[in-house]
Amino acid sequence: MNEHAVPPVHAFDAAEREAVYRAISTRRDVRAHFTGQPVDDALLARLLAAAHHAPSVGYMQPWNFLVIRDAARREQVRELFLSARQEEARHIAGDRQALYRTTRLEGICESALNLCVTCDRGRAASSPLGRWHNPQMDLYSTVCAVQNFWLAARAEGVGVGWVSILDEAALKVLLGIPEHVAVVAYLCVGRVSAFAPRPDLEAQGWRRRLALTDLVMSERFGGDGEAVLKHEIGKLAG
Ligand SMILES: Cc1cc2nc3c(=O)[nH]c(=O)nc-3n(C[C@H](O)[C@H](O)[C@H](O)COP(=O)(O)O)c2cc1C
Repeated sequence: MNEHAVPPVHAFDAAEREAVYRAISTRRDVRAHFTGQPVDDALLARLLAAAHHAPSVGYMQPWNFLVIRDAARREQVRELFLSARQEEARHIAGDRQALYRTTRLEGICESALNLCVTCDRGRAASSPLGRWHNPQMDLYSTVCAVQNFWLAARAEGVGVGWVSILDEAALKVLLGIPEHVAVVAYLCVGRVSAFAPRPDLEAQGWRRRLALTDLVMSERFGGDGEAVLKHEIGKLAG
C-alpha cells in the first residue's frame, strides 16, 4: 500500500511517530554518565505517571514505586551489589572474567535517585483474571511499567540504569519489602552527561545486536517463510 495515498487512520502525525521511535532507539542503559544533578519532583511525577499507564494483566496494576534518595541507604545497596557481583563473577566464562570485572554495571550512588519497582503478588488475588494459568503475568505487567518509565525518561533527557546484580532477599530486608512483594527492578535515575550511541556492552565487545531477520519466524518455531517481511526488515538496518 502507498502510505501517502491513504492517510493512516488513528496514527500519530509523522513528527510524533518519529519521536516515539527516537525514544525507543536512543534509550540507553546508563551507568557511568550520571551527573548527580537533581531530578525535580514534577518531572519524576510525569515519569511515574507514564509507568502507571502500563498495561497490566486483569488491570491489576501490581506495581509500587519505592523512591530511594538517602545516601547511606544507597551505599548499603551498593554493598549488596558488590557482593552479588563477586558471586556472579564465579559463573562467568574464564576468558571473559577480566572484561566482566572491569565493566561498569551500576550507578547507584552517582545517580540522582534510585527507584525500586516492585510487584505485589497478592494484589487482586481473589480474581486472577489472566493469571490462573500463567501466574507470572503480574511480573510481566510490572516490567511493562519499567519500560514505560525508561522510555519517558529518555524523552525527558533523564538516564535510567537497571541493576539486577542484587540478592533479592537481602534487598527486601534492607528496604523493608514484605514477603509477598517481589522486586522486579532496581533503577538508577538521573541527569546524564551523554546518552551513548550504542549499548555499553556492545561498545565493550561483550555482545552484538542480533540480526532481527534471524529472530523472526513464521507459523511454527523455526519456520522461515516471511521473505517479503524479512526484505522490509533488511531495509531498516542501521
Ligand atoms: C532485566 C534487565 C536487567 C539488567 N541488569 C543490568 C545490570 O545489573 N547492570 C547493568 O549494567 N545493566 C543491566 N541491564 C542493562 C542491559 O545490560 C542493557 O539493557 C543492554 O546491554 C542493552 O543496552 P541498552 O539498554 O543501552 O540498549 C539490564 C537490563 C534488563 C532489561
